[in-house]
Amino acid sequence: MTRIFISYRRQDSEGHVGRLYDHLLKHFRAEDIFMDVASIEPGADFVDALERAVTACDVCLAVIGAQWATLTDGAGERRLHQWNDFVRIEIASALRANKRVIPLLVGGAKMPHPADLPEDVAGIARRQAVELTHARFTQDVEQIVAVIRANLSERPIKPKADAAQVRQKAAQIKALQADLLNAVASPLYAHRVANKLFPVLGDGSPDAGIVFIGEAPGKYEAAEGRVFVGPSGEVLNELLAEIGLKRDSVFITNLLLDHPPESRDPTPEEIAFYAPYVDRLLAVIEPKVIVPLGRFAVQYLVKKLDLPEKRGRIGDLHGRVLAARMPHGEIHIVPMYHPAVALYQSSQRAVLKKDFEQLRAFV
Ligand code: URA
Repeated sequence: MTRIFISYRRQDSEGHVGRLYDHLLKHFRAEDIFMDVASIEPGADFVDALERAVTACDVCLAVIGAQWATLTDGAGERRLHQWNDFVRIEIASALRANKRVIPLLVGGAKMPHPADLPEDVAGIARRQAVELTHARFTQDVEQIVAVIRANLSERPIKPKADAAQVRQKAAQIKALQADLLNAVASPLYAHRVANKLFPVLGDGSPDAGIVFIGEAPGKYEAAEGRVFVGPSGEVLNELLAEIGLKRDSVFITNLLLDHPPESRDPTPEEIAFYAPYVDRLLAVIEPKVIVPLGRFAVQYLVKKLDLPEKRGRIGDLHGRVLAARMPHGEIHIVPMYHPAVALYQSSQRAVLKKDFEQLRAFV
């Protein structure tokens, strides 16, 4: 479902629109952006098809080049004044549906005077325009990105389960928690008991669209039996808050579900022991997006899902949106560095922040 409609005339703004589109792709998914009418099927009523496409969007970017209002056809008639002009249909539909229409002036174009416009598009002249200049292109588009974000309506990334299904998922997670508590065969069970620690399955919504997978509970987490409650948790909370994600709307777990002594790296044996628990958790929640945090969780997921990127290192994969398939359907994997990196190297916080921006497309 598209959320951003780009209306433009090829003849006066194609180059600008290509650049704009590439920039928007850094912030939004390709399927969120409607730019070309090529998808209208032969024989379909194009007025109807355009109106539907525009009204389904949250924001209409009206790219206005120097010839936007004045371009004429072979008979010398102004295109914008013809009933079947695509641009006219798009803008008139967006204004009628009271969409946020943002005029983007390119190539030195000025906003046309309302008297020069057909009545059904004249309202665009009253919308605050943004000028896209070559020199400040990135800043100008960033300004628009912020406005787009503020105007996107909430779209659940997966159909909402009904109350009975959510209860069933919660019960399955509770059963998993009980199994974990009794996981006497775990290579970390003796350490758990000897140190009076708790296993940490994780928490959040049993029907979450997004699941985060960290590395292993730290000492704070194992002391309380709750996930990401120590210093790394504070970083994670900040990153989530910055993109408007509430902790209770996602699910947060780890690759290991017990604290390893001295917080050392997970061993292959430990990963092999806990992975089936994590897999069961994913099978219950059925997320549309999985965010592995840190190299161990990233490696586990890209290998398990046999992604083409399975030999990639976290340095190359972080912040990318990878397509994957799970038994419950098509999903996305968005690898990230572990939030703890920001505690050791403050410059990494900006990298994490930028990577987390990718998740906005799914919020
Ligand atoms: N680090 C993790 O990977 N997980 C936690 O729960 C806490 C710190």
